[in-house]
Formats: sequence, structure tokens, C-alpha cells
Amino acid sequence: MVTPYSMTFGAFTLHFPQRNLTKDGEAVRLGSRALDILVVLVENAGVLVSTRELCDRVWADNVVDEGALRVHLSAVRKALGDGHEGIRYIVNETGRGYRFAVPVSRSVAHSPAPPPHNSSARALPVTLARVIGREDVIAGLTDQLPERRFLTITGPGGMGKTTVALAIAHRFSGQTGTRALFVNFAPVSETSSAASTVASAVGVAVSTGDPIPDLIRMLGDTPVLLVLDNCEHLIETVAELAEKLLQAAPGVHLLVTSREPLRADGESVHRLAALPSPPPGTTPGTNQAREYAAVALFVDRAKAANDSFALTESNVTAVCDICRRLDGIPLAIEFAAARVGLMDVHAISARLDDRFALLTQGRRTALPR
Ligand SMILES: Nc1ncnc2c1ncn2[C@@H]1O[C@H](COP(=O)(O)OP(=O)(O)O)[C@@H](O)[C@H]1O
Ligand SMILES: [Mg+2]
Repeated sequence: MVTPYSMTFGAFTLHFPQRNLTKDGEAVRLGSRALDILVVLVENAGVLVSTRELCDRVWADNVVDEGALRVHLSAVRKALGDGHEGIRYIVNETGRGYRFAVPVSRSVAHSPAPPPHNSSARALPVTLARVIGREDVIAGLTDQLPERRFLTITGPGGMGKTTVALAIAHRFSGQTGTRALFVNFAPVSETSSAASTVASAVGVAVSTGDPIPDLIRMLGDTPVLLVLDNCEHLIETVAELAEKLLQAAPGVHLLVTSREPLRADGESVHRLAALPSPPPGTTPGTNQAREYAAVALFVDRAKAANDSFALTESNVTAVCDICRRLDGIPLAIEFAAARVGLMDVHAISARLDDRFALLTQGRRTALPR
């Protein structure tokens, strides 16, 4: 395909069949949210990205409704010239999500030679929020990675698997110079797309047919850490793929997150525990309470929601109670702390009995993957 027009996103170069992102010869400015949406869709080109996944990726911890997404999507479509000459770039599957539908080819930007670790085809996302606690797990698993090439972090949704995996990958990559690539399987619903999702993350041009041989050839024996995130709905397929890659590409290390282990050959499983909360029946002082990661997370996120929030002798018991009753699950603690802008901690604690309704207010689809 002749593709005279191209755009570069990080290390991707995308070739488009028509001129786009320009209007009357002038570059069209896209807002940062709109650009983020475009990047997520383009990274998953050809794959359906659910509305929730898109909102989560673009707005991170903030709660948004679909209306906001639609406003920004319409700006993206306008900039792309969606619909012009009958070309649809972004296809909406009603009630399910969005797909970047234009046939694009991808290549690793700049150089066909194996890129150095910091210019990976799909670089690790940077976690902006501070990681609280977990130092032992992060240090321990980072130390294990050179020996154990296949680590899986398991635990319920919201427990912090992705957060911990990213912290490990950044540290491992920094310490060893190994290139680290991120593959998110959350939007991949078809088992048949799993291998091509990995292939495109690595920078292999995906065509029809089995991408695994090309993927193995591309990887060769170059050291690389593949972070395979959200594998729970594709366990068997990813297990098989993992075994093939580890066998044929001796430089590959895998760091997997999944609610359940893959039960594949060579896999070491680490079940991620809850963030520690003060034991029931104890009434720690503020300094002592802050030593517990669950409380520290609550305080950090509550301050972000309401900068006048402080942990005091009068609210420490309620905060400890909230953390315990939310089972030390970081996502649940973040939701509860976000309410501090709207109500005081005693009210939050009192309303925890209806915890699902409280925590997911305005974001009813938040708890599934
Ligand atoms: N140790 C931690 N410190 C700070 N925030 C955390 C920590 N663990 C998880 N979080 C936050 O909790 C939420 C859920 O974490 P995530 O890693 O996405 O969980 P999982 O991958 O298990 O579903 C995210 O918003 C993340 O930023
Ligand atoms: Mg996750």
C-alpha cells in the first residue's frame, strides 16, 4: 500500500492512506485528552476497545461519563477527517466500544535495528500516582526475574497487580538495561488475536496468518521483558504463547498479571496480598496508623480529593475502619477516599454497608476488569 502520509506516536509510525490531521494545510490542534484517546485506539488498531477501558486509560483515576468521551472522540474524528471520501477511521460498536478501523501499517520508528531499551515499540506506561507500600514485593520479584523468566502476579481486580508489575518492570529495566514492553490484553476479546497483540507490541508487522514465527524471529535472543497485563480471560491461549516464546526466544522474560495463574510450564506465581490495615479492635494514633499502607493510601488520595483533609485523632478510627472493611483493596480505598471531597470520613464509614453503591457511584462499570 502506498502511504505517503504518516504520523509518529512515540515509537510507532503510522502510515495513513490519506492526508489527515491537517486542515487547509494547517496542523489541527487536538487537546491532550483527544490525543490520548487517539493514541489508545491506534495502539489497539483493529481491536475493539471497550468504552470503560478507553475512559480508564485516558482519565486514569478520574470518574468521567461517556458524554465527555464522546465530545473528545468527535474532535478526534473531525481532525482525522473521519467519513471523508467514505473512509471511517473510528468505528463505534454500540454499547461495546470503539475500534480504529483504517488499515494502517506499523513500524518501529527511526531504525530497523533492534532499538535500545528506552525506545521500545510500546514503552511501559508511566505510573504517575505514587506507589504506596509494596516495596518488599517489588524488590523481591525484581530480584527473582533474572532467574525466573516467567512470573505471574495474581489477585482480585483492583488489588494493585498492574501497579506492582509496572514498578517491577521499570526497576528491572533500569537495573539491567533490558528493554520492557507492555501488552494490555484487557481489550482483546478473541483468543485468536492474542498472539498478534503481542506481535504488534513488539513491532512485528501483523498480516494474516500465524504471527508467532515472525515474533520469535524478531525477538531472537535479544533480552526483553514482556509485561502481559490482564490475562485472566485468555489464560489458556496466553499460557501456550508464553511457553512457546520462552522456549524459542532465550532473551525473553515474562511478567504477567492475571486474576488466576496461567498454570503454564515454568511459571512462578505470586499472589498479591491486600495492603495492610491496622488490626481490628485496635485504635492506633495518627502516626502509627500511617505506617499501614492502606491508611497511607487513603490519606494520600483523600488529600488529592480535598486538600484540607488531614488524618486527625478524631477521624483516624473511622479511616482505619474504612480500610479494614474494604479489605485493603487499593482500588476500593481510592474510591472511598475520592468521596472525601463530598462527605466526611464518618459518613463514608457509615455508608460502607452499601459499599458497592457508594464506591461505584457514577462509575457503575468500574469494578469488572
Ligand atoms: N501500592 C499502591 N500505591 C498506590 N496506589 C495503588 C497501589 N496499588 C494499587 N493502587 C491504585 O489502585 C488502583 C488499582 O490498581 P491496579 O494496579 O490497577 O489493580 P489491578 O491491576 O490488580 O486491577 C489503581 O488506581 C492504582 O493506581
Ligand atoms: Mg490491572
